[in-house]
Amino acid sequence: MNLPEHIAVIMDGNGRWAKKRFLPRMVGHRTGSENLKKLINDCDDLGLKHITFYAFSTENWKRSQEEVSNLMDLLREYLDDHIKNEKDNNFKIDFIGDMSKLAPDIQEKMVLVRKLYSTHKGIFVHIAMNYGSRDEITRAVRKISQEVRDGSFEPEDITEEMISSYLDTSSYPDPELLIRTSGEMRLSNFLMWQLAYSEFYFSDKLWPDFKIKDLLEAVEAYNNRERRFGGR
Ligand code: IPE
Ligand code: IPE
Ligand code: MG
Repeated sequence: MNLPEHIAVIMDGNGRWAKKRFLPRMVGHRTGSENLKKLINDCDDLGLKHITFYAFSTENWKRSQEEVSNLMDLLREYLDDHIKNEKDNNFKIDFIGDMSKLAPDIQEKMVLVRKLYSTHKGIFVHIAMNYGSRDEITRAVRKISQEVRDGSFEPEDITEEMISSYLDTSSYPDPELLIRTSGEMRLSNFLMWQLAYSEFYFSDKLWPDFKIKDLLEAVEAYNNRERRFGGR
């Protein structure tokens, strides 16, 4: 099987998973977070190089204050767990998105986790947290404009490669495959630049039910796609 180097995943459907069971949304998020941990460990032996998970969008702040604060607490727990169990984990991890809008203690934990895991040898996991593609591109355009103003280069020198190098994902390849769970068929502001030529795969499974075998099904579907990149 031809394994992609990088898979991007929109983890959607925690709320509906809980609703089906007459449970609070938070239970869905917690089960979703457990599923993420399990899936990462299952992915580690596959030989994939990178996997990016959409955990919290720049639009998710619009949810109730209670849900946002629950999600932030869950992230704290998730990071603490990674700090505590660092020795048992083989993967590398980092974060994309605008960290500066997150609580200072969360930012500190993120910096620590990234550092602790940086010497690991396994799959590189990227978590998109307060991530929005438009926000990412806006931040990149600001930095590039600043450099033009400082005289580092001329507007004519700007290339697609240069723009890519100003994005949060600058150090690794674009995803060949995007998976979204829960049956929704939209990007919701995820990696719009990076997904320009990716294959899309939509699963009806809700995120807490999405397992390694479902991911392998997505990879199999990807293997049957003919990628043309505008050629023939
Ligand atoms: C995905 O599940 C998790 C986040 C966006 C934080 P949802 O919370 O969006 O679940 P649904 O879409 O309401 O089922
Ligand atoms: C996208 O899911 C964001 C994440 C999975 C983190 P949403 O549930 O927020 O997206 P919409 O609102 O259905 O577009
Ligand atoms: Mg959703």
